[in-house]
Amino acid sequence: MLEISNLRKTFNAGTAHQVKAISGLNLSMAAGEFATIIGSNGAGKSTLLNLIAGAYQPDGGRINIAERDVTYTPEYIRATQVGRVFQDPLLGTAGAMTVEQNLALALQRGKRRGLGWGVDRQMRSQFRERLNSLGMGLEQRLGTRVNLLSGGQRQALTMLMATLARPNLLLLDEHTAALDPLAAPRITALTEQIVVQQGLTTLMVTHNMAMALAMGNRTLMMHQGEIILDLSGAERAHTSASELVARFTSRNQELLSDRMLFG
Ligand SMILES: Nc1ncnc2c1ncn2[C@@H]1O[C@H](COP(=O)(O)OP(=O)(O)OP(=O)(O)O)[C@@H](O)[C@H]1O
Ligand SMILES: [Mg+2]
Repeated sequence: MLEISNLRKTFNAGTAHQVKAISGLNLSMAAGEFATIIGSNGAGKSTLLNLIAGAYQPDGGRINIAERDVTYTPEYIRATQVGRVFQDPLLGTAGAMTVEQNLALALQRGKRRGLGWGVDRQMRSQFRERLNSLGMGLEQRLGTRVNLLSGGQRQALTMLMATLARPNLLLLDEHTAALDPLAAPRITALTEQIVVQQGLTTLMVTHNMAMALAMGNRTLMMHQGEIILDLSGAERAHTSASELVARFTSRNQELLSDRMLFG
């Protein structure tokens, strides 16, 4: 479903602020796989997701989604294949528009001649049904402006919008990190529900080691723009959060000392 080979991205190349964010990264994901991604600040996690979504263009390498080379396909075209949810609940929805207008827009995503945010009776009943499955009472609030919703409700709506048009790939970037302790587990549960129901191939960035092991079926650790650990199956099942932290720390130190030795 997702094939990434030798992907490279440097920011501010040739200046004093040059940063090699992704350096020769390879990743292959089968359809329906759900990988969590961990890694320290600046490891390149968000950059990787941005490259997959087409928000950034790489300097080299290739990205295939569903057997198609999309390396240089514009973001708005890739949006039919890729659903995204960010950390900030304000980013995924249009606050001045109503719940149903937002959903109508999500449904039109990537279609050339959409109906904008017009909503007919059939769409409304479909939306009501989908909102009902979130269990947040949003089905009663189709006409409510989204900026009147709580962060958790808004993130739930974003999850629904990101997956409404049945993308091939779902990209989640710390999407529960900004939520309160009640809302975060609800969005986590909702994520699993939607991913399993739709069999979505998913990449989820998190700083929570326990969550990185508990959710999905594969865990990737990134460091300096590379994947330095790829856990699945029995090996993953037998890894605890504290072991993961230990591997993380030792691997970081190893790489740091390598770099100090070999420049
Ligand atoms: N638009 C940009 N312009 C310049 N540098 C950038 C840009 N985006 C990211 N970087 C740099 O690239 C590196 C990787 O950043 P990235 O945001 O991908 O890290 P991350 O793993 O998502 O970190 P965090 O856990 O803090 O979110 C960092 O050094 C960052 O400063
Ligand atoms: Mg990030």
